[in-house]
Amino acid sequence: MRSSLIALLLAALPAVSTAATPAPTAVQLTVDPAHPGARIDRNLFGQFAEHLGAGIYGGVWVGPDSPIPNVRGIRSDVVAALRALKVPNVRWPGGCFADEYHWRDGIGPASQRRVGVNANWGAAIETNAFGSHEFFDFIGQIGSEAYLSVNVGTGTPREAAEWLEYLTGDARTTAGSERARNGHPEPYRVKFIGLGNEAWGCGGSMSPDYYVNQMRMYARYVRSFNPAQAGPQAPVRVAVGPNGDETGYTEAVMKAWRERVWAWDIEALSLHFYTSAGWPPAHPSEHFGAAEYALLLKDTFKMEGLVARHSAIMDQHDPQKKVALAVDEWGVWLAPQAGTNPGFLVQQNSLRDALLASLNLNIFARHADRVRMANIAQMANVLQAMIVTDGPVMQLTPTYHVFRLYVPFQDAQYLPLSMAAGDVTVAGITLPRADALAGLDREGRTWVAVTNLDPAEPLSLDLRLAGRRLRTATGEVLTAATVDAVNTLAKPDGVAPRPLHGEAHGDAVRVELPPRSVSVLRLE
Ligand code: AHR
Repeated sequence: MRSSLIALLLAALPAVSTAATPAPTAVQLTVDPAHPGARIDRNLFGQFAEHLGAGIYGGVWVGPDSPIPNVRGIRSDVVAALRALKVPNVRWPGGCFADEYHWRDGIGPASQRRVGVNANWGAAIETNAFGSHEFFDFIGQIGSEAYLSVNVGTGTPREAAEWLEYLTGDARTTAGSERARNGHPEPYRVKFIGLGNEAWGCGGSMSPDYYVNQMRMYARYVRSFNPAQAGPQAPVRVAVGPNGDETGYTEAVMKAWRERVWAWDIEALSLHFYTSAGWPPAHPSEHFGAAEYALLLKDTFKMEGLVARHSAIMDQHDPQKKVALAVDEWGVWLAPQAGTNPGFLVQQNSLRDALLASLNLNIFARHADRVRMANIAQMANVLQAMIVTDGPVMQLTPTYHVFRLYVPFQDAQYLPLSMAAGDVTVAGITLPRADALAGLDREGRTWVAVTNLDPAEPLSLDLRLAGRRLRTATGEVLTAATVDAVNTLAKPDGVAPRPLHGEAHGDAVRVELPPRSVSVLRLE
C-alpha cells in the first residue's frame, strides 16, 4: 500500500515540474561602448498639460484655499511625484485649447479673471484661475522648463508677441512692470515656443502654404526679452508639422526653412501621432486580453516608420540636422472610461500602456540625432497620464513608473546594441519579442532598458559590454500578473517596480526578465 503510494507520487512529480517551468528563451544582448551615438536629449521626456478635463484643474491646481495640501494652489503630492521624474519641460496651455487661449484672461486678481467655456473639451467652465503666473510657479516647483504653445488659430502675432514681452520683459518696461505688479518682477524664462498647434486641424484647418505664411510672422515677432536668454539660450521655436504620416506640412515648412531669410528662423518641427489602432479611439483601456495587447503594441511601432519618414524629408532640406523633430504629442488614446465625460479623455492606464511608453521612448532615442524633444499626452488625468487624482488622493500609473525608470537616459549618450530576440506571435499578431536601449550617462555609467513583449514567457538575457568585463547588473523591473493590470484606489501599487539583479555568468551577466515587463539595469 505504502510503496504503491510513493510510486504514484513519484510518477506525478516530473510531470508537474517540467510542465510548469519551461526553459526561458535565451537572448544575447551586446552593447557597443566604442561607438557612441547622439545625445539622448532630456527633452524627449517632456510632459504635456492642457486645460482639458482634470488635466489642470484637480490634477495640478486645487487653489490656495483647498484642504488638499498645496503651495500657492498647486498640489504638493503631484509636485513631489513629478520632481522624481526630473520633467525637462511642460507643454501648456494646449493642444487645441491653445488656439483659443487669450493670455490676458489668465493674469491679474483671480476674482477678476474672465470665466468662459472650454469649447474644445467637454464644455467645462474655464475660470482662468490657472494662468501664466500659476504655470510658471508650477514648473518652478517641479524644476522644469516652459514650453508655451501660442495662439495662431484665433490670435494674432501681436497678441503672442505681447505675451512673451509680458513674461520676459525688463520690469522697467510697461509690459514688465505689469508682470511685476502681478507679483513677479524677475523675467520668466521661456525655453520653447510652439508656433500654433495642429494648424491642419483644430488649430485653424490651414493648408500647409497658408500656415507657412502665418508661421513666418510668428517666428519673426514672438521673442524673449529676458537678457539671460540671449544667443544660444534663446527660445526654441517649434513650427506645426505633420499629422501622423501626412507629409504636406513637413515638405512645406522645411522648404520654407531652407529658403528662409535673415528675418526669421525655427529650431524644431512638431509631429503628432497617437497610438489608437483606428479612429475614433474605441479600444478599451481595461479588462482586455492578449488580442488587444498585441494590436496596440503593433500599432505603436508605427512611430519608428513615421520618425524615419519625416526625418528623411527633413534631411533633404536640412542635412546638418539643425531643425529638431519634436514629437510633442504622443501616447495611447483609448475609448473614454465608462461614466466619464467623453470630452475629458479619461482612460485607465495598464501595464500594456507602460510597455508601449517604453517602446516609444526607445524609438525616440534611436533617432536622437533628429528627435530632440517629445511630450507624452498628457501629464495628469488625461489620456496616457502619469498621474491620476481623485479629490485628495493621488495615484501613480504604470506609465509614470516607466518615466521614472528611464531618468538615467536623460542626456545620456546613445550606445548601439545588438540583440537577436526574434518574434513572438500573440493572438495571430507578430511582434518583436523584445526591444532595448543602451546609454552612457554623464557619470560614465552604462544603462540598459529591455522590454520583454512576450506576454507569457520570460527571457533569459545574457548581457555583454563589448571589450569589457561585466560583473553585475542592478536595477528595477516593472511587470504584473496580467497585461491589463492597472493601479486602483484599492490597490495603488498593483503595478510598481521591484528590484532586479543579474550576476556574472561566464563572460556575460545573466538576468531573468519576466514576461510582459520593462527592466532598466545599470551595468557594472
Ligand atoms: O491631447 C489631446 C488633443 O489631441 C490635443 O488638444 C490636440 O492637439 C490633439 O488633437
